[in-house]
Amino acid sequence: MTPPTPIRTQVAIVGAGPAGLMLSHLLSSAGIESVAVDLRSRREIEETQRAGILEQGSVDLLVETGVSDRVHRDGYRHGGIELAFGGASHRIDFEGLVGAAAQLYPQTDVFIDLADARARDGADVRFGVTDVGVGDLTSERPVLRFTDAEGVAHEVRADFLVGTDGSRSLCRREVPEQERTQYFREYPFAWFGILAEAPPSAPELIYNHSPRGFALISQRTETLQRMYFQCDPAADVGDWSDDRIWSELQARVGHNGHVLQEGPITSRTVLPFRSFVQEPMHHGRLVLAGDAAHTVPPTGAKGLNLALADVRVLAEELERAVAQRSTEPLATYSERALGRVWKAQHFSYWMTTMLHTLPEATPFDVRRQEGELASLTGSPSGSAYLAEGYTGWPGPR
Ligand code: PHB
Repeated sequence: MTPPTPIRTQVAIVGAGPAGLMLSHLLSSAGIESVAVDLRSRREIEETQRAGILEQGSVDLLVETGVSDRVHRDGYRHGGIELAFGGASHRIDFEGLVGAAAQLYPQTDVFIDLADARARDGADVRFGVTDVGVGDLTSERPVLRFTDAEGVAHEVRADFLVGTDGSRSLCRREVPEQERTQYFREYPFAWFGILAEAPPSAPELIYNHSPRGFALISQRTETLQRMYFQCDPAADVGDWSDDRIWSELQARVGHNGHVLQEGPITSRTVLPFRSFVQEPMHHGRLVLAGDAAHTVPPTGAKGLNLALADVRVLAEELERAVAQRSTEPLATYSERALGRVWKAQHFSYWMTTMLHTLPEATPFDVRRQEGELASLTGSPSGSAYLAEGYTGWPGPR
């Protein structure tokens, strides 16, 4: 066997989705070299449907760092959302309440912008690699091993290793059990997600609570729409014809006076729901960011936003770590990032449990939930927490 080709860099990044690429971009602006690898091909990542809402701070990050001039042009600014329940629909006016907005701009486009920006800058990003392994995490020179798409084995020696390798993170598993705490929550439902060739049904997103379950009416373009409805986690997409999906969605939103524009359904998937955090977000010279360290249920659209907020802080702390040849900034990163992570965990849990039909709910629980929605929509102070959390809390500290 030929020995692996050695590569020397400052930061080795496992996972070249939006978090890994944004980190590589921020580091390179600070004059720090990195190598990023991903098991998936660029095409596979581009074709995976993910959430579509960016907080104001995420939009600013993409624009200010020169990654995307498309986010304003091709995205849609949403100054609010509709909360529909109890036979009526109520608009939450983000701009009026907190002076901020959300941007409809799909994660796949964020990824494309980042991958293009990194390619343009000549960054070392390798997609479609195999046999990824990391080691020597508590030594001065941690290692990343992988085989590239051409079948050549490499060994990267770096000052620091970053795991931005998603919810099934391989890096996360390298942290010894006694060094970390994992927090979990499972939910007794999932989302059935579809893409439909149809015009938009509303100018903004509709979060719809009904006795038949939750539904979310989102969008993509003038001719393509994204919608979700609460389903059993064991639901089989094969059991759901276009007709069955449309009649279920229409029944749920019709309860609150909305009517959907229908069209051919081109994609259907069941999305599991889980809340998860691993603390701390560092071990030796390894740091975790984004879904590798924490996952949220999709209701608050926080996953990508949280990953971008992580790497914004991480880039600052890695800059200090490299300059000072110290691991102390990694602990500071973990502490700073976890503040926002737990706010987003609460927000996502709260949106989820407020809006879904809970299988074990008693009649008291159901009426209490309606009372919660009424108090939220009934006054500006009730709505302001939702507006602030949805558009994103003030930037990293
Ligand atoms: C989406 O458009 O995919 C989307 C939007 C809002 C959410 C979740 C997903 O809360």
